[in-house]
Parts: sequence; C-alpha cells; structure tokens
Amino acid sequence: MKILTLALFAALVFVSCNQRKLVSGINPEAFYKKVDGKQVELFTLRNKSGMEMSVTNYGGRIVSLMVPDRSGKLEDIVLGYDRLSGYLTSTEQYFGAAIGRYGNRIANGLFKLDNLDYKLAINNTPNSLHGGIKGFSSKIWNAVQNGDNELELTLVSPDMDEGYPGELSVMIIYRLTEKNEVAIFYSAKTTKPTVINLTNHTYFNLHGAGNGDILDHILYLNADKYTPVNSTLIPTGTIEQVKGSPFDFTTPVAVGTRINDKNEQLAFGLGYDHNFVLNKTKDGEKVSLAAVVSDPISGRYMEVYTNEPGIQFYCGNFLKGKEIGKGNKPYNFRSALCLETQHFPDSPNHPEFPTVVLRPGAIYSSACVYKFSVK
Ligand code: BGC
Repeated sequence: MKILTLALFAALVFVSCNQRKLVSGINPEAFYKKVDGKQVELFTLRNKSGMEMSVTNYGGRIVSLMVPDRSGKLEDIVLGYDRLSGYLTSTEQYFGAAIGRYGNRIANGLFKLDNLDYKLAINNTPNSLHGGIKGFSSKIWNAVQNGDNELELTLVSPDMDEGYPGELSVMIIYRLTEKNEVAIFYSAKTTKPTVINLTNHTYFNLHGAGNGDILDHILYLNADKYTPVNSTLIPTGTIEQVKGSPFDFTTPVAVGTRINDKNEQLAFGLGYDHNFVLNKTKDGEKVSLAAVVSDPISGRYMEVYTNEPGIQFYCGNFLKGKEIGKGNKPYNFRSALCLETQHFPDSPNHPEFPTVVLRPGAIYSSACVYKFSVK
C-alpha cells in the first residue's frame, strides 16, 4: 500500500512538473530567483491559435515566442536563454529586453536640457548605450499578469538614475492578441524635465532562434530616409535619402543582398545598424506600418507597426557565436535581426530631430506591434 501511495505521489509530481513546462520547452522554475532582493519570475501569455510568449520581469525580457509556420508548426523565433543565469552572466546583447531610459546611443554620454548639463553612465565607449550600465534591461520590474493575454510591468526609476534627471514612473504592457500580434505599449511620467526613448530589443530569426542566419529574410522598410552615423554609430545629424543605396528597403529585398557592399555606412555598422526615418502621413502620431519581414522557407511573415518616427534596423553584427542560447544553440554573426521602434539616436544633442523631452505633467506614450501571419 505504502509503495502504491509513493508511486502515485511520484507520478503526480512528475505530471505537475511537466505541466509547468512550456511549449517552448522552457522551465519557468529556471527563472524563479531573488535578484537584488526582488522576486524574478517567468510569465506566460497564450492565445487561442496556440501562440505562446514568455516574459521575465528581469529586464522586461521576451524570453520565448512560439509562432506557427505555413504548416502550423510552432517554432521559438526569438533569441534568449532558457534560464535566468544566462541573462545574468552573458555578454550583454540585450536579448528581448525592455530598453530605457534611452534606446540607442547618446554621444559621449552628455546632453544639455534647459541649460543644465547632464552626464550619463558610459557603457559603449565613448558613448552611453541603451540607458547605461544598469538600464531598464537589467532592472527587476513589478509584474501583474491579467488573464492569459496580458502582462503589466511597472518600474520607478529614481531621479538621476544612470545620470538621467527626474523620477520616472514607467509602465509597459505586453499583450498577445487573438490576431497573433505581440503588442507593446509604453507610458511614463516624470517629476523633472528629462529625455526618454523606450523600445524593445527582441532579436528575431523567422527560421527559429539558432537556425542559421537572417540574410535570406526579405525586408521592407517604410522609410525613404535614414540617419547616417559616424564611426562610433552616432548620427551625423544629416538625414539622407535611401534611394540608390544599400539602405533602400522600400521595395522588399533580402537582407543579405547588399550587406557586404563597399559602403562607409555599412563598414561603420559592420552591416546594418541604422535608424530609418519612417514615412508618416499627416497624422504622424498614429500607429502605422513601419516594416515587414518574411521568411520564404517557413512562410512566417511579420509586420511591425508603431507611432514612433524611427526604427533601428540592427542585424546582429555584434553576435559572435560566444552566446550560447536556448537549447544550447550558439548565436552566430547575423543570426537574428532587431527592429526597434524609437525616436532617433542621440536626439538630445540634435534639436533638428523630433523631440525626446518629457516634462512633468505630460504623459509619454509609445506603441510597437509585431503582427504574425504566414504567406
Ligand atoms: C544597436 C547596436 C548595439 C546593439 C546591442 C542595437 O540596438 O543599434 O549598435 O550593438 O543594440 O545589442
């Protein structure tokens, strides 16, 4: 009798552990840990067509995203680690992360606002990148899951956090909709004038994370112009037409077609790592189509919508295969691409760019929608 009870107990433990496993194969327990005295967890969103997305409140990171191909087969199409320790110990590539307070670079970590000089943490010599040494990508967010589809993350970033003025209260909502969209909504308010540029740093490979490179992905960018950079990837301040250059994605073309062209801009970025100026209609504030990426092999098709004026197209030029991701797969050179909706890099030092200043009393709001289908 005792043996039978024990066997039953063991079977129950086995079933309940197994049930906890996600379709992606990730075990949420591998994320359950206290960091900086705060509880880190993995949250799972699901929709009725079988998509599954997991997000950790460590850095607001999208850890996995299961998306069907033409035949309905689900594959995890975002780069990341299958345990929290991966995010805590790896070379920082910002896999899946919420980026703030400022997406991309601020030259020499310096800017002036209302005649006051600010000095930011330098973490990408000589510049400040993605919010500094301990940006939003490595903060522990408060998390509340609302049903199967929605996760709400909040954070209070103290005055002068990484050198940025004002106490900033931020909310990010991740929603996995029944239309197979990953919708990300950002809002924030500040106690002092500040600058802000929030984005998400998910790396996509529509073949599946770790399954080769993205050079065959077909890309369309709804952008007639882009902002060229200097050798440290800071915009020069000019806005140039893409026409006739390797930066013209106004007609869909494979990412790899011109990536190795002899071109100073491509040399600076080791490939594409540039901000594109989105074509906007008169109601420029509204969410509109920014980009489309498709994979001819799997049929996966991803549209990107935003209300932001720009999008950073980065194609994993700094991945070196040292990063061993989910399922022990190495993430090699150009094995994924990021499409980060944003205001332009280094805007605080470019009054000619759309403003990134947020003042007390105003609400910052930004939206990014990645919509999946098959073709
Ligand atoms: C930037 C790259 C940077 C990468 C870090 C991208 O948003 O544009 O220059 O190396 O983030 O992972």
